[in-house]
Amino acid sequence: MPTAKVVFATITGNNEDCADIITEALEDLGVEVDESEISQTDADEFKNFDICVVVPYTYDEGELPEEGMDFYEELPELDLSGKIFGVAGSGDVFYEEFYCVAVDKFAQAFQKSRATQGAKPVKINLAPESEEDLDHLDAFAKELVDNYTASQK
Ligand SMILES: Cc1cc2nc3c(=O)[nH]c(=O)nc-3n(C[C@H](O)[C@H](O)[C@H](O)COP(=O)(O)O)c2cc1C
Repeated sequence: MPTAKVVFATITGNNEDCADIITEALEDLGVEVDESEISQTDADEFKNFDICVVVPYTYDEGELPEEGMDFYEELPELDLSGKIFGVAGSGDVFYEEFYCVAVDKFAQAFQKSRATQGAKPVKINLAPESEEDLDHLDAFAKELVDNYTASQK
């Protein structure tokens, strides 16, 4: 059974909701999932899982979650080769060019750790409520698992 770690950062709950949806979708696909909040998590815990997921909010025009800075700085220093990663997150389209910048930044940090991108980043506007949002998050989870399975052949 593949294992996954889903790490979220949240202030008002939208990214925790996204993380919960991803966790449930992964579990439905037979993955054993450990979900945790970013300030309570060391990035090197990813070494113990097959699939690594970060779900961050974006603040103050493109800023990363303050409580996740240690985690963010440690991530590119790790060797996560052989792991599958994905990043999803909620922001607000009102911020235009800064929309979900943290999602892209975490994806870049994962690239530096030499993990393999298992799904394209997913950006959710505010709360993950629409049918489309749920479909995107479910498809994200499925792509991660499919790519993990393919990597084992
Ligand atoms: C002061 C402030 C600044 C924000 N800056 C951005 C931003 O630069 N880019 C973005 O996509 N969203 C921005 N947001 C919107 C939040 O990322 C969005 O509400 C998100 O859903 C919050 O996630 P959370 O509920 O998990 O805390 C900002 C929100 C606030 C209150």
